[in-house]
Amino acid sequence: MGRKFAIIGHRAPSSGKINLNDLPGSSGRIDVLARAVNTALFLSHGIREDTDIILHLLGGPGPARRIKFQGSILRGIHSDERAIAGQVAKALKEPVPAIGQFVEIHSGFWHSGGGIEQTIREWDREGVRLFVLDNEGDSFNSEIHDLDSIGFILSDDQPFTESELESMEGIGSISLGNRWLQGHVCISIIHHLLDSI
Ligand SMILES: C[S@@+](CC[C@H](N)C(=O)[O-])C[C@H]1O[C@@H](n2cnc3c(N)ncnc32)[C@H](O)[C@@H]1O
Repeated sequence: MGRKFAIIGHRAPSSGKINLNDLPGSSGRIDVLARAVNTALFLSHGIREDTDIILHLLGGPGPARRIKFQGSILRGIHSDERAIAGQVAKALKEPVPAIGQFVEIHSGFWHSGGGIEQTIREWDREGVRLFVLDNEGDSFNSEIHDLDSIGFILSDDQPFTESELESMEGIGSISLGNRWLQGHVCISIIHHLLDSI
């Protein structure tokens, strides 16, 4: 089963520079996104080839940018937050591609314009079964093992905005317990649950 994650970086810069020496502060919590990439893709030895993750960089300046890491063909990225943020920094030097047009910067590392509503549209078209991760959602149902492709949407350290919630209307939600966890921990738990069925 293909696994996909979409994480929203509300303050993460979509263009310009990232200060690699201050990922949690002046870089719009890029550290949270880099940890999510690390957890989504990397095993102790190797990469999860069945997994993609899309970062949504909404902090400006200029239009929103999405960055996709595609586990099946990803090359040249290591399990290290600063190195992952360094790759993101390279993409930010390029103009933002048109909404929906994914441009490959190097193998398995893509960027595009658009926000979460665009990702939801694309995943719907591809037949991905979507879920929002939400501590008040439904419990995880192991019957989802029948699906070909499954996608999970999560936020950074901030709550989803009204307009994000609107674009996610009608999508089922999954709770991993009633306490708020960090996003990368949720990704790890999802992998564990899917690995176990
Ligand atoms: C650090 S939490 C965000 C907390 C933020 N203060 C809020 O109020 O939304 C990051 C993301 O992880 C996911 N998450 C955290 N805890 C969860 C839980 N217990 N069950 C399901 N998803 C969870 C949610 O998608 C959340 O947006």
